[in-house]
Amino acid sequence: QAVLGTKEKKVVDVHTHMYPPEYVRILESRTTIPLVRSFPGAPDPRLILLQAEVPLLDSAAAAKLGQDTAAAPAIPGRPLTRHYASLEQKLHFMDTHGIDISVLSLANPWLDFVDAASAGDVAQSINAEFAHMCSQHPGRLYFFATLPLTAPLATVLASIKHVQALPRCRGVILGTSGLGQGLDDPALLPVFAAVAAARLPVFLHPHYGLPNDVWGPRAAEYGHVLPLALGFPMETTIAVTRMFLAGVFDAVPALRMLLAHSGGTLPFLAGRIESCVLHDGHLLREGRLGPARRTVWDVLSTQIYLDAVVYSPVGLRAAVDATGADRLMFGTDHPFFPPLASDEQGPWESVSLNAAAVSAALASAADADAVMGANAVRVLRLYEGDEVDEVAA
Ligand code: URA
Ligand code: ZN
Repeated sequence: QAVLGTKEKKVVDVHTHMYPPEYVRILESRTTIPLVRSFPGAPDPRLILLQAEVPLLDSAAAAKLGQDTAAAPAIPGRPLTRHYASLEQKLHFMDTHGIDISVLSLANPWLDFVDAASAGDVAQSINAEFAHMCSQHPGRLYFFATLPLTAPLATVLASIKHVQALPRCRGVILGTSGLGQGLDDPALLPVFAAVAAARLPVFLHPHYGLPNDVWGPRAAEYGHVLPLALGFPMETTIAVTRMFLAGVFDAVPALRMLLAHSGGTLPFLAGRIESCVLHDGHLLREGRLGPARRTVWDVLSTQIYLDAVVYSPVGLRAAVDATGADRLMFGTDHPFFPPLASDEQGPWESVSLNAAAVSAALASAADADAVMGANAVRVLRLYEGDEVDEVAA
């Protein structure tokens, strides 16, 4: 039974991931993170992604070798359930929650770890797989493509040309590492210029979080809460602020970015960022505080979109205030955050929290409908050219 919108008002999920089987096979072949590994006593293989999960992975390995006399350690990572790779499960999840359209993306860490020589081919094959999945359910699925950022620039630019022509591709998903030096790297400007020229918005998503030692020696007692609740949003905030300070948004005015998790903490911290800029002697001496300077607020309301994956009306109100109700888009982060105490095939609380936050935080029903779907239909040009896509698929 649908818990969300009615059919006149489309519900669109812009933050929803998959690992196609080919990507899972790559993860299964690896010995360092990201990796997939089976553990005795765990029904599903485990997906181990984050630096913060490595200490537990190491202690599980030590226990297996008999080097650890303590009781069996907790199993690292999270269960790699069917929800990650099965399109059928994605559609079931959409139907359960009344989601009309999903804009799929490969989950982190994308192709960040793939060697330079093979990244181009892997990207081509994974992006083609996403296009193929979308073609199976016309009108219900679109996708953000993945770029082979470890490959030479020419390969990255060729990949942008490739995905631009793929049916139902509506943007690219990007992490914060860029070409290895972050998103304020001048060497990345041709990539931003190319995606902007191709009218492909960048869906910016965290993966690396903050250095492990920030979480302290007792971090293992707290599960994944600290890296996911705080590390992820800070990573996004830092990446976008570095882009802002480097003038990337001015250098590529056609660049449009959709920020995961409502921009991390950007809406909340934008005022402080502005004040720190205004009071910075170095920037003043460099002549960067002149009247032509664009504020964070200006960038937020012209080049940034935010998802509504923030789980509370408090954070969502800050997001709406920062960018406007016409720049926010509902998302779920499926298949992450499944319910732990109820059937995964039923409703997910991680979804209802975000849907309830939209109802509570948006001033009017029209604004709430816009966030739940109409904004995504407009900004990501959903439905547009579907007849053409049909032929190309
Ligand atoms: N954990 C991840 O690794 N990625 C997500 O997108 C959400 C949770
Ligand atoms: Zn996500």
